[in-house]
Amino acid sequence: MSEELRMREGRSLAQALEEHLSDWSSRTGITVEIWALPAHDAPPRIARAVLATLREALSNVERHSQSQVVSVAVTLGKGGLRMTVSDNGAGFTGSVAGRGITAMRTHLKEIGGTLSVSGVAGEGTTVTAAVPRSREAS
Ligand SMILES: Nc1ncnc2c1ncn2[C@@H]1O[C@H](COP(=O)(O)OP(=O)(O)OP(=O)(O)O)[C@@H](O)[C@H]1O
Ligand SMILES: [Mg+2]
Repeated sequence: MSEELRMREGRSLAQALEEHLSDWSSRTGITVEIWALPAHDAPPRIARAVLATLREALSNVERHSQSQVVSVAVTLGKGGLRMTVSDNGAGFTGSVAGRGITAMRTHLKEIGGTLSVSGVAGEGTTVTAAVPRSREAS
């Protein structure tokens, strides 16, 4: 069943995130540390964009990082929505942007948000997505 369908069946964004992370961790063998999940729901198009971005960020962790652990925090507060996906793997040098990062950036742009991807060679990679509250609420 697609995540979108499951969400329509009344699952919260937090539940959708948790289930996706748990499935992904079982499949890849990479430990997920969940630091925070949103305490309330976001509008469906925001939730969809966040899940799609998370999926690509995790796919990059699996394919490129060689990390054994990834930490994930998604919060919805006064300032809006923030998601951080951080691994302690290979990282990278310079600027990179393939199709995946471009797609994540597009997902965020469509909901009025921004994306940053920062890598430090040998230290890890952090993907941060932010959607200001004014946009997140609309
Ligand atoms: N978590 C990560 N750890 C290490 N390197 C990463 C990570 N995320 C991205 N990168 C680097 O950034 C590059 C671009 O990522 P991007 O997702 O845009 O493309 P891709 O994964 O190579 O291909 P695809 O278009 O299938 O996503 C990767 O090829 C990789 O070198
Ligand atoms: Mg990719």
